[in-house]
Amino acid sequence: MNTLQTTRIEPLDSPLDGAVRVPGDKSISHRAIMFAAMAEGTSRLTGVLDSADVRSTIGAMSSLGAQVALERQIDGTLAGGVTGWGAAGPSQPDHAIDCGNSGTTARLLMGILAPWNIRVEITGDDSLQKRPMRRIIAPLMKMGVRFEPEACETLPVTEIGTPALKAIEYDSPMASAQLKTSVLLAGLGAQGETVINEPAVSRNHTELMLPEFGVKAGMAFRRASVEGPVKLQAAEVDVPGDPSSAAFLICAALLKQGSSIQIENVSLNPGRVGFIRTLERMGASIEVRYLTAEGKEPIGVIEAAYTPDLRGCEIPSQHIASEIDEIPVLALVAAHASGITVFRGVSELTKKESNRLDAILEGLGLLGVNAWTENENLFIEGQPDLVVPDGLVFDSRKDHRLAMTWALTGLCSQTPVDIIDFDCVKVSFPRFLEAIRGLAR
Ligand code: S3P
Repeated sequence: MNTLQTTRIEPLDSPLDGAVRVPGDKSISHRAIMFAAMAEGTSRLTGVLDSADVRSTIGAMSSLGAQVALERQIDGTLAGGVTGWGAAGPSQPDHAIDCGNSGTTARLLMGILAPWNIRVEITGDDSLQKRPMRRIIAPLMKMGVRFEPEACETLPVTEIGTPALKAIEYDSPMASAQLKTSVLLAGLGAQGETVINEPAVSRNHTELMLPEFGVKAGMAFRRASVEGPVKLQAAEVDVPGDPSSAAFLICAALLKQGSSIQIENVSLNPGRVGFIRTLERMGASIEVRYLTAEGKEPIGVIEAAYTPDLRGCEIPSQHIASEIDEIPVLALVAAHASGITVFRGVSELTKKESNRLDAILEGLGLLGVNAWTENENLFIEGQPDLVVPDGLVFDSRKDHRLAMTWALTGLCSQTPVDIIDFDCVKVSFPRFLEAIRGLAR
């Protein structure tokens, strides 16, 4: 018997039109809950994303003794108080912490646990158990943290932190905000200055949010630092909308004839909106308006409209980190553009919730689009008159960003498509279909 869970995605009846908010930013939601859990006192959080990944973080912080009283609001966000463990530290959990599908939960958790003398087993779902953890374990071992098995590559792993943590200066081999954040969070408990240098700029939500919790963070070009030991104090955080979720609605508007939408209250952090720069260079009708002050998480409005004459462009490797999560949907846009689009230096795509590089080639292949890799570069030869063939079945590989990307092929064309395991969208954008259909009424 066929046990595959497939979801039929029917074409939208009308163009996308109007203003909308997207769910809270996933990266910022994780950090707000984690920093509040570490802090002394009760923090007040609003706009928090309610998704499976964020629930993994809530579960992890609760297992360590934080009191998380976030409740679902009428607009679908989570809001409420989080009382942290503060100077008393996290308590010894009596079971393994299961981070589900969430790499951010697992990797940031490792940094949080580093200064505390408890033993914590960290695990995750099948996908997370395949993702590389040595990149986090290596610098934390230099700081004095122990892992069992020692120097292992993947979860599950048991971490044994130490109050005698050593501050380090670390030259990161990759531009990874999870790695940077994990080292900085460990550095909060170490004596002296912990510095991390990166080969390219990664998102800086941690450096922007730590001062809200009363902790200074050094921020320079490809360099971040903290001075320990230092304790976080409770704060108020309002989480803006997630640009990575917005990207799916924006790309749908670009591809669906007659569309014109505005996404309000969305994070415009430069470390996140590389996809907007890429779409601009592809000739997309897209504009942003910034609404916030210097030194804070930049927030504003993104406007996008149907663009029939998209053209391919080249994305250099140093820009990839700022649009890493959007490359699957950008690849789909590139498939509709004239000429060849080249994404340079995209090997990190193979290390995400699935091997996204492989999945992009597979999905574009089903659409009849020529796409290939050479060295670490992805090439896509677009077809401005692309017609989606009948009867396509896309495998989401249980990866939320792939499920939403392939859903756009059905939503924005005249042909329904089927997606295997579509419910994985719960990881970041549980009401994705309702949001997009709401704009097309
Ligand atoms: C994230 C950082 C990115 C991104 C991930 C979330 C974060 O990964 O892909 O979805 O919240 O710090 P890197 O650690 O590779 O930058």
